[in-house]
Amino acid sequence: MRIEDPKILAALPELGVELRRGAALSSETSLGIGGTTDLLLIRKHAGIPGLLQLLDSNGVTHKFLGGGSNLLVRDGELPWVVTQLARSEPEVTLDGNFAQVDAAADLGRTVTFCAKNDLGGMEGLIGVPGTVGGALRMNAGAYGMQIGTYVREVKLYRAAERRLEILSGEQISFEYRHTSFAPDDMMLAVKLELPSKPFKEILQGIRICNEKRRASQPLGQKSAGCIFKNPPGASAGRMIDELGLKGLSVGDARVSDRHANFFVNAGSASAADMLSLIGDVRERVSQAFGVTLEHEVVLWLA
Ligand code: EPU
Repeated sequence: MRIEDPKILAALPELGVELRRGAALSSETSLGIGGTTDLLLIRKHAGIPGLLQLLDSNGVTHKFLGGGSNLLVRDGELPWVVTQLARSEPEVTLDGNFAQVDAAADLGRTVTFCAKNDLGGMEGLIGVPGTVGGALRMNAGAYGMQIGTYVREVKLYRAAERRLEILSGEQISFEYRHTSFAPDDMMLAVKLELPSKPFKEILQGIRICNEKRRASQPLGQKSAGCIFKNPPGASAGRMIDELGLKGLSVGDARVSDRHANFFVNAGSASAADMLSLIGDVRERVSQAFGVTLEHEVVLWLA
């Protein structure tokens, strides 16, 4: 979708928004899949309520993009524009055991920065791609830990109230790959409370997680991480593997040979290829195990 309305175009600079015409979302997603649309880069939080009001009142539909690492976007010219936070400087400010982190900050860089300042707890997240805001929204977790444990405060744009708000950790519920945020809430910043640990010890933990991840996940390939959530008490990856589906492909969309719950874009896969593969695997698992797998990856299809 292209923004043509002169009224909107004229208002953007004052709201702190930079317009990127015809952005290819295939360059913004770790899967390397996705069509084109106008991208609105948000440079100041205070401008967000005004921006969304302007878009809504003029019938411009929009979606909020984080790091694009857990996302499958449809092909072609997209019927909505995309908003995204620009990265701020500095991304992280420390005060004792508290880290105030911008939602647009890279998750891995944040974990490393905190580690260098003797703040641990997030070692398991070191290889998880994406932004801190995305990790927060999905309650990202790995190797027995999840980010929600450390959240003390969240600054967000509350879509229902159309304003910026600060929530305390107790006001948010964090479950397995799920939080109580509304789908159209925008994460803006988070205050984490992290346990003190010597850098060397944190580094040791980071190394162990890195090795485990390298041994079991296709890190160098284009993917969106795990495609399906694990059903209670079971592993989606193991079930898909047991059915012998590693290597199954539709076009360039392919079930990874290394981890069966990672579907990779081995070249120039389309969203249609990837969706067809997801549907096929889901159907086979359902028939063999009587389990309906739920998507872990976020789908932007409509
Ligand atoms: N397994 C297989 N074959 C496979 C993959 C896995 O037999 O192809 C077996 C493993 O041997 C193991 C079990 O299944 O016994 C579980 O596998 P793994 O330890 O790789 O963990 P997972 O449950 O598949 C979860 C998260 C990952 C996270 C890892 C490590 C979900 C959906 N996935 O994977 O998160 O990195 O644990 O903590 O919860 C993601 O969210 O995108 C993601 C990759």
